[in-house]
Amino acid sequence: MSALDRCYNINDLRLAARRRLPRGVFEFVDRGSEDEVALRNNRAGFERIKLRHRALVDVSGRNLATTLFGKPASMPMAIAPTGAAGLCWHEGELELARAAASAKIPFTLATSAMTSMEKIAKEAGGRLWFQLYVWKQRELSYQLIERAHRNGFEALIITVDTIVPPNREYNPRNGFMLPFHATPRFITDVAMHPQWSARVLMKYLTTIGMPRYENYPEPFRRPVTSDASVRDVMRQETLCWDDIRIFRDKWPGVLMLKGINRPDDAVKAIEYGVDGLIVSNHGGRNMDSAVASIDALPEVAEAVGERATVILDSGVRRGSDIVKALALGAKAVLTGRATLYGTAVGGQAGAEKAIGVIRNEMDKTMAYTGCRGVEEVTTDIFFGDREANRLRGRVMEPV
Ligand SMILES: Cc1cc2nc3c(=O)[nH]c(=O)nc-3n(C[C@H](O)[C@H](O)[C@H](O)COP(=O)(O)O)c2cc1C
Repeated sequence: MSALDRCYNINDLRLAARRRLPRGVFEFVDRGSEDEVALRNNRAGFERIKLRHRALVDVSGRNLATTLFGKPASMPMAIAPTGAAGLCWHEGELELARAAASAKIPFTLATSAMTSMEKIAKEAGGRLWFQLYVWKQRELSYQLIERAHRNGFEALIITVDTIVPPNREYNPRNGFMLPFHATPRFITDVAMHPQWSARVLMKYLTTIGMPRYENYPEPFRRPVTSDASVRDVMRQETLCWDDIRIFRDKWPGVLMLKGINRPDDAVKAIEYGVDGLIVSNHGGRNMDSAVASIDALPEVAEAVGERATVILDSGVRRGSDIVKALALGAKAVLTGRATLYGTAVGGQAGAEKAIGVIRNEMDKTMAYTGCRGVEEVTTDIFFGDREANRLRGRVMEPV
């Protein structure tokens, strides 16, 4: 029985990933920021929502398929951008992208990924989205999106919630820094995980050398150990609506903003020609007092209506979470850690396992609630006073 066979849910994959990865890498993937309140709230938000099962409905022909931006997806889910898949597995981004392609869901490549967009486009197939952190030197970002367009990426996601670097106190404690520094603590950590060293680190070192941020503009395409490679990427204090206007003019495909949590921002985004909004608190990794995405979702979805596609991320670990997000107005969700844990345990097969687990759970929740297709999922499945829920923008506890 392989390690993957012993994983029955995302938490099993998480625990298996914890055993495999050096502590510094695992905590970088797994944890939040400061006191990790937002991280916990993301889960609590989903868990608070109670559903009613509907009896005696023939749900035998149910179908999870949907369309996202006019194209089919086998279920209302896509892979979130994460700069860490390449640390979880050798060329982890490629493995994850292949898993997404085989599951027929979109994959988002992060600006800070270690596999180039050219390679992903050539070798992964499937629907590809590109996530952008906007450079201080805007011209470099414009070149980057041109490159993404040339490589067939259908959507551009601009992340707007990482204005300043977050406080992730465990990273320096673990001696885990970006850019990488060979701190004594991290060296010991790596030495205690020889399998990871052999299967991930050594594979890079014996082929391409120290991994680089392959999607950074040329002047910054340096190894992950270089200070110069990351210094400017996170300088986003000047990012503003005028930038969005320019990106809208320059990007011919689908444009999304990631990290919109307020209805007024959502409405403004639509005025600027944005096609999709991702309600997200960055998986609880940035502002620790951030509202849980599932709690922020209803008022954003209501303000947007049919004018744009609303997607949710942060905290999705079970298929029932997707059903709850759909009921509250999302068209789909993104998964960050859930599919990263899978990648860390088994590369493409591990990511496929994570997607399969969530799909199976979603399918069962649809069956229990009497929904044969995603269009049948509404707040009708909730327990509690629906009108009060609607006005409060969240689901009440049972009275
Ligand atoms: C290890 C890691 C790296 C991430 N890197 C990025 C990134 O480079 N760009 C970005 O927009 N979001 C990034 N995110 C946030 C995810 O895109 C997503 O918003 C978040 O993971 C969703 O929460 P979840 O992990 O609970 O699913 C990262 C998340 C993780 C866990």
